[in-house]
Amino acid sequence: MEHRDLEKYIPIETFTGETEIDDITSEKKLYVETYGCQMNFADTEIVNGIMKKNGYDITENIDDSAIILLNTCSVREMAEARVLQRLTEIKKYKKNNPNLVVGIIGCMAERMKRDLITKKGVVDLVLGPDEYRRLPSLIDNLIDTGEKGIAVKLSRVETYDDIMPVRKEGISAWLSVMRGCDKFCSFCVVPYTRGRERSRPLDGVTREISALAEEGFKDITLLGQNVNSYKSGENDFSDLLAACAKAVPEVRIRFTTSHPQDLSMKLIETIALYNNICKYIHLPVQSGSNRILELMKRNYTVEHYMKIMYNIKNIIPDVTLSTDIISGFCTENDDDHKMTLDIMSEVRYDGAYMFKYSPREKTKAWQYDDDVDEEIKTKRLMEIVELQRNISEEKNKSLVGKEFEIIVEGISKKSDKMLFGRTDGNKTVIIPLNGSEAGDKVKVKVNKGNSATLFGEAVSLN
Ligand code: SAH
Ligand code: SF4
Ligand code: F3S
Repeated sequence: MEHRDLEKYIPIETFTGETEIDDITSEKKLYVETYGCQMNFADTEIVNGIMKKNGYDITENIDDSAIILLNTCSVREMAEARVLQRLTEIKKYKKNNPNLVVGIIGCMAERMKRDLITKKGVVDLVLGPDEYRRLPSLIDNLIDTGEKGIAVKLSRVETYDDIMPVRKEGISAWLSVMRGCDKFCSFCVVPYTRGRERSRPLDGVTREISALAEEGFKDITLLGQNVNSYKSGENDFSDLLAACAKAVPEVRIRFTTSHPQDLSMKLIETIALYNNICKYIHLPVQSGSNRILELMKRNYTVEHYMKIMYNIKNIIPDVTLSTDIISGFCTENDDDHKMTLDIMSEVRYDGAYMFKYSPREKTKAWQYDDDVDEEIKTKRLMEIVELQRNISEEKNKSLVGKEFEIIVEGISKKSDKMLFGRTDGNKTVIIPLNGSEAGDKVKVKVNKGNSATLFGEAVSLN
């Protein structure tokens, strides 16, 4: 395998003159900056868990740190460009403190491997998403011998099930239930950076979710690139969701992401059955054209997708829906684009994450011609964004007069006289201060809404 020899340390001799590490600061302080999807944010908490167990302190102040890690994303070129730009800024920190350890972890580490060390002088450590247990030993080795470290082997079994993540205080928590992705959509780098699908045992997840509820978390999101593939013995994702709902009946449970190919009726029914499973489904459609879906290797048609939507809306009438859309995929023409706008108008999503296609090396689509002009990609993306903004606004305005339960998250960022919280459907609601605090459940009546936010007032305190 390509990465087998790369997991070994690279001798420092190759890099003489770049790093002279003697004694790391006596306080072992770690600072991690996270880019990318929720899986990466959850992984940062796992990394913090591993490091804390090994005697490190976690700091949120970069100036204070002895070790800086960037947990990175490769999904689009822009995501990588941001990190490469950040590395040039981090050079300055290293200039001021030559003992500083700089590591790249996550998807870019997995994708670019040794190049990150050879091409970016400032990088001391490169660790892929399945190698985080080796972080403390690679740091020790770097400090003892000056050897830069690289570990990018992907695993078929690693789930970090026994690691207790170090989470930030708050009411929301992420909980990884599976890792990797075997779908190989033709545009997507994730199967190459995250490796094969594997699931945590069901009892490990329910144990962790119970502990989180005890700690006071009120809103927990189960995470996986493709949760429909979750498998633990005879149990599938619906069983896991039901087990979690029963284990912590007072806690709201969400999940992301499902793939339309194998979202089952059982899952829809499970969501409908439990009060504490949020009536919110994120189901990426990517395109409204069957020809493009086929080229994307998504393994479903628009008709199949609409059948799922029909079932969801029937079984969960007050469901909130969101999606992902890519504009300007290879060979996309005006008709394909129009079909994407059509499916958006038909489904009427509450929200969408919308992207311009960005070719990624190694993927199947890398071999296709990226033939849609940049200006056309941008124009189509803007039309998609504008349509979604209008639909979101209409949907939010239609909620005026309705009552929802929100969980208060804190003081509004825009006004210290207001609180903000989220509905079951993941919508942010702003209400005037009313004596309630983060974590409280408050019944609110909506009196205004725009495309992004609802405004209301408390009806009663539960
Ligand atoms: N596992 C998740 C999504 C992972 S990536 C899922 O399948 O839903 C999140 C989103 O990024 C994708 O849904 C897709 O819309 C977008 N994306 C992935 N690769 C991309 C690329 N090469 N260019 C543009 N957008 C991309
Ligand atoms: Fe990427 Fe497709 Fe897997 Fe999602 S399902 S992570 S888009 S390959
Ligand atoms: Fe990015 Fe890796 Fe997530 S590529 S989207 S951080 S799985």
